[in-house]
Order: sequence, then structure tokens, then C-alpha cells
Amino acid sequence: MPRFEPHPTRRPAVVTGASSGIGAATATALAMAGHPVALGARRADKCEELAATIRAGGGEAFAHPLDVADSDSVKAFAQAAAEALGAIEIVVSGAGDLQAQQLHEIDSDEFAAQIQVHLVGAHRMVSAFVPGMVARRRGDIVFISSDVVRSPRTRMGGYVAAKSGVEGMARQMRMELEGTGVRASLIRPGPTSTAMGMDWDPETTGLVLDDWVKWGHARHPYFLRPSDVAAAVTAVVTAPRGAHLSLIEVQPEAPLEGE
Ligand SMILES: NC(=O)c1ccc[n+]([C@@H]2O[C@H](COP(=O)([O-])OP(=O)(O)OC[C@H]3O[C@@H](n4cnc5c(N)ncnc54)[C@H](OP(=O)(O)O)[C@@H]3O)[C@@H](O)[C@H]2O)c1
Repeated sequence: MPRFEPHPTRRPAVVTGASSGIGAATATALAMAGHPVALGARRADKCEELAATIRAGGGEAFAHPLDVADSDSVKAFAQAAAEALGAIEIVVSGAGDLQAQQLHEIDSDEFAAQIQVHLVGAHRMVSAFVPGMVARRRGDIVFISSDVVRSPRTRMGGYVAAKSGVEGMARQMRMELEGTGVRASLIRPGPTSTAMGMDWDPETTGLVLDDWVKWGHARHPYFLRPSDVAAAVTAVVTAPRGAHLSLIEVQPEAPLEGE
């Protein structure tokens, strides 16, 4: 007699920040693993484009506008996703942006905006989906954190504070969810090649990179690909019930010596 029923064969998933980078790669990877996926971001056209590609490849995908900084938008998204795909079994929360400023220079409203999107936004997903998971006695919520929680980087405005809050929230949830069958997990990516930071002006990028060198963050030039992070998310949600990959840090390997 197994300690847990196996995962159901149909496990619909929601991915926030699915219009770009890690979220888009995660939606693709989950669809390839057989999950129906609901893609959410403010650029719904980008999500719909990716959803169409997934459907063309034989997967099941649904796109809907989502602004995680707006409670009504999250509620509308959650309702639409459940209507389109059925009860949501997996949530991947990774929507967010990155403001490059020093804390003593950043305006408090901009600081609050980083907390709103990364931390409160993640909590809005918790509120929208986790009670249903608890009632069904199974489910996965995966938070995309960052290695800045373990090793802060300068000039990240409220980002380090927000991601630290996300990890604190996830650790607390693990305790509160113990015995419910619902797993709250963290993925902590290192530097990943996405759109994040690509909107900075060259001067800001230069200052950030100088600081990476100064603080020992630029030990080699390789970045992760979004698909590398998506593979970690897939590993977490496909782990058999009864085993919980509660925290995975993913770092880029250095280039092979001599290449
Ligand atoms: N890139 C890295 O080096 C790295 C490292 C560690 C962790 N991370 C984390 O990985 C996650 C994904 O970032 P990424 O690197 O893939 O960057 P990205 O390519 O810029 O993607 C960010 C995604 O978040 C969405 N988003 C931003 N604000 C949103 C909002 N208010 N509501 C809904 N969606 C919103 C964006 O879509 P719209 O603009 O269409 O809304 C976009 O789809 C983030 O949580 C980031 O902190 C990234």
C-alpha cells in the first residue's frame, strides 16, 4: 500500500511571467511533460503566441492577461484558468522585474513596487490557488527565487528584500502545509540569460557589472539558459508524492578549461 496516491494523470499548471524568459521556458517544458498549462503575464499577446505554439505541437495551453500586482487581475486569471483547464494542480510563480538602483537612492514607492510584484504578487497566487489544493489534499506551488537571497548583489533596489521575503514565505508555508499533501518549493536560479536587466541603459549595466567583479560574482562568463531553470521546475513538480524537492539552486557551469 503506497503512502500516497500517485499524481493524477492530468495535472493542469499555471505559470506566471509566461511571456518571456524562465516563465516561457517553464510553460513549454511543463507542456512537453504532458501538463495542460495556463500562461499569464501582462503581455497577453506574447502568452497567446506561445500557447498557440504549444497547441500546434499537440499540447494543451491557455493564455490570459495577468498582472500579479493587481488582486482583481489575479482573481480573474485564476477563475479563467480553472474554467479552461480544470482544477489547478501546479502553480509556478515567477513574474517580476528588476530595478537597478542602490537602496539609499531608490524612491520608496519604487522599492514598494518590487515588493508588490515579487512578494505580494507571489502571495496573491498563494491565496488564489493553495486553498483549493489543500481541500484536494495535493498540489505543488513553486516559487522562483534567486541566488541573491544566499549572496546579495548590489544595485538591485528592493529585489533582494523581495526575494528574501519570498523564501521566508515559502519556508513558513512548508511548515503550515505539512500533512496537507501540498508541497511549497523554491527554485533559486543564478544568472540566467533572459530579458531581465536588458532594459537598463549601458551606464547602469556597466556599474552593475563592475560591482559583480568587485564582489566576486563574475567568476566566469556563462549564464544559465531559461530551459535549465525550467528543467529544475519540472523535476520539482514531477517528483513522486512522498518526496519533496523543497529547494533547488541552479548555477551555470563554467566553460570547460581551454575553450
Ligand atoms: N534572469 C536571471 O538572471 C534570474 C536569476 C534569478 C531569478 N530570476 C527570476 O526569474 C523570474 C523570471 O525572470 P526572467 O529572468 O525570466 O525575466 P524576464 O524574461 O524579464 O521575464 C519576466 C516575466 O515576468 C512578467 N512580469 C513582470 N511583471 C509582471 C506583473 N506585474 N504581472 C505579471 N507578469 C509580470 C513579464 O511579463 P510581462 O512584462 O508581459 O508582464 C515576464 O514574462 C523572476 O522572478 C526573476 O526574479 C531571474
